[in-house]
Amino acid sequence: MQTAKDQLIVALDLPTLERAMNMVDTLGDLVECYQVSMEAFYGMGHILLAQLAGRGKKIFMDFKLHDIPTTVANTVTTLCQFSPAFLTLHAAGGSKMLEASIKAVNEWEALSKRPRPKLLAITVLTSIGERDWMEIGHQSPIRESVLRMSVMCKEEGLDGVVSSPREAAAIRALCGPDFLIVTPGIRLSPEQNADQMRTATPAQALKVGANYLVVGRPIVSASDPCTVTTEILQDMKQYIEKK
Ligand code: C5P
Repeated sequence: MQTAKDQLIVALDLPTLERAMNMVDTLGDLVECYQVSMEAFYGMGHILLAQLAGRGKKIFMDFKLHDIPTTVANTVTTLCQFSPAFLTLHAAGGSKMLEASIKAVNEWEALSKRPRPKLLAITVLTSIGERDWMEIGHQSPIRESVLRMSVMCKEEGLDGVVSSPREAAAIRALCGPDFLIVTPGIRLSPEQNADQMRTATPAQALKVGANYLVVGRPIVSASDPCTVTTEILQDMKQYIEKK
């Protein structure tokens, strides 16, 4: 059975290598998997990945790839060499882009004989509210779009999706027990929301079926990141132990 620690991913959204690695060293054994976003990778590149790997940490590459199918598939192959545990791309890239990407990771695994990353699709960003969604021309409500995208991802063979905790239960019901659901927008209290619109507490997110929780600012911007991480793990454990 997975522990709370196995299910927590900390988003290392920090601007310099020094700050990122200080955070990793501060959190020590409390955290095993780090999300490396565009912000971190564009600034620190391969050095950050190598340093995380050197400390035995798992990497969740949140690059949210979105381009024509060939470009994304080739990028996915290039990124596999860094051995990320997870890699994200936008479901909005469409079924052909998803199909080309899953083919690329499977081919890479067969050739390299190394485990491929789990491919996860971003459905609708957790910072997007209904009004923002309509503003960019979408007609159906967010929930309906998220569910439609999730089913498409499952059909294309993706390992799972990234979604708000608010849609997780419906995705679980539609896509079955083996489909991975990763939820950002995790907050211990609403005062921490910042730009996130569709949030939940750690325990609520697990309860609705999330396999992994991504937490950024509540930890990396905290004055005492270890205490906040311990509180988050505690909240998760309370749910896990009640199950
Ligand atoms: O700081 P916070 O906890 O809001 O960080 C959440 C992280 O998850 C950010 O790195 C953000 O880019 C990422 N993310 C998200 N919503 C998605 C997918 C990824 O917030 N749908």
